[in-house]
Amino acid sequence: MQAKEILNTGPLIPVITLEDPKQGVPLARALLKGGIKILEITLRTQGALEGIARIAQEVPEAIVGAGTILNVSMLEQVKKAGARFAISPGINAKFAQEAKSVDIPLIPGVASAGELMLALEYGFEALKLFPAEAVGGVKLLKSFSAPFEGVQFCPTGGISLENMHNYLALDNVSCVGGSWLTPKELLAHAQWDQITQIAKESVAQASLL
Ligand code: 3PG
Repeated sequence: MQAKEILNTGPLIPVITLEDPKQGVPLARALLKGGIKILEITLRTQGALEGIARIAQEVPEAIVGAGTILNVSMLEQVKKAGARFAISPGINAKFAQEAKSVDIPLIPGVASAGELMLALEYGFEALKLFPAEAVGGVKLLKSFSAPFEGVQFCPTGGISLENMHNYLALDNVSCVGGSWLTPKELLAHAQWDQITQIAKESVAQASLL
């Protein structure tokens, strides 16, 4: 899959911090049941790589990606674990250049026009806007649409059920990402049915546009 196809899989990407790698499989199944087949596991915990590997092996119908990729060695590790795509919070020339040697769709994060120009220079046109709400959110994306025609965004950072519509209504937004879809307390207590419920409600609301 190309990075743009990844962003067009569905309107919502859960951004997940997995404390226990064993939770990856039931979580991916709960999200699938709720209508979400794409998920991002952030590399912010010890068990993240193992969680990605378990999902990739045991839930092949889910599209598991890795987030919080900060350098090329992390990119290589997630590719090896079975991640189908990777997301970084930001971009720099060294990383953009080195990432080209790893065969995995990468969605780099940007927060300014200069970073967008850098991303385009290296051929990245499917981007994450991060941290979306803090750097200008909907207004910034609207301003980017004329000079950066053809670029598609997945904004994350401060997105919720309440404000996601403002983003999804924009032509240059393919999907939005966020942690609201997988609340920490529900994960900690393995409340899979409730996670399915949140996914169902969020998908239903996202499709009301
Ligand atoms: C990310 O890594 O994309 C963000 O941490 C998700 O942001 P949120 O917690 O505000 O949804």
